[in-house]
Amino acid sequence: MNTSGLLAGRTALITGAATGIGRAIALAFAHAGARVAVNHLRQDVLAEEVRAACAKASGSALAVEADVRHAGQVQAMVDGIEAQLGAIDVLVNNAGVIQERAFLDLSEDDWDAVVDTDLKSMFLVCRAVLPGMQARGRGSVINIASELGHLGRALYVPYCAAKAGVMGFTRALAREFAPAIRVNAIAPGPVDTPMLSLDHMSPQVLEAERAIPAARVGHPDEIAAAALFLASDQASFFYGQVLGANGGAHMA
Ligand SMILES: NC(=O)c1ccc[n+]([C@@H]2O[C@H](COP(=O)([O-])OP(=O)(O)OC[C@H]3O[C@@H](n4cnc5c(N)ncnc54)[C@H](O)[C@@H]3O)[C@@H](O)[C@H]2O)c1
Repeated sequence: MNTSGLLAGRTALITGAATGIGRAIALAFAHAGARVAVNHLRQDVLAEEVRAACAKASGSALAVEADVRHAGQVQAMVDGIEAQLGAIDVLVNNAGVIQERAFLDLSEDDWDAVVDTDLKSMFLVCRAVLPGMQARGRGSVINIASELGHLGRALYVPYCAAKAGVMGFTRALAREFAPAIRVNAIAPGPVDTPMLSLDHMSPQVLEAERAIPAARVGHPDEIAAAALFLASDQASFFYGQVLGANGGAHMA
């Protein structure tokens, strides 16, 4: 599909965009004409590569470091983006971490590390971005959840809780800010990114990831296509939806 121009003139912020799904979304948005802000945490080199590729595609892009768990860093990031790229029209809350650990071995810090990154960050970034969208009377917010928020998985309790929380957060926010601002989510199935690796998952869990109707893991571009749709005016009647780009792992 020729997507050039779908996001022409828009400014988009994608959190955690130096790698994986966020990187693919940043590139897809830039190819659709958006000025893209590439948020990252301690990934200057990778973020700069993504920024340069985005700037080549759309003419304007920014890499901006901020830890999305911290309100002050988030507000400074949003202020900097709006000063340099213009008001944010599209926000993708994508940054996330995962952790495989038995429930009874979890510390409070383990819980906070996952829930603060995967859920609280969305509260903080939305709180910084939504006032501007509301004042301008338009905007699109896309939150990256996970199929595991539907399914649950042993050894992943904080992640599943956070991702189910993302879906509830999305629906409530969608009702509060409609009709001017559309808030939706994507709940990906297994996708080939650094998150889906032996660093984060045991071989048994990785094997189980492939046992889905699609019989394969997904590609980041397959999630970016859903994000581009939700960001664009083509999704003008989508409010509070959770798109299941998941290879059939969960069928709503
Ligand atoms: N890969 C999968 O199978 C899969 C499946 C379902 C959902 N997801 C979700 O997709 C999103 C992207 O994950 P991915 O698979 O591309 O993995 P990834 O590890 O490549 O991407 C996550 C990004 O978030 C960044 N990040 C982490 N903590 C941050 C923080 N505090 N502040 C700013 N950035 C931070 C990381 O540096 C990384 O670049 C995540 O929310 C993840 O939960 C992934």
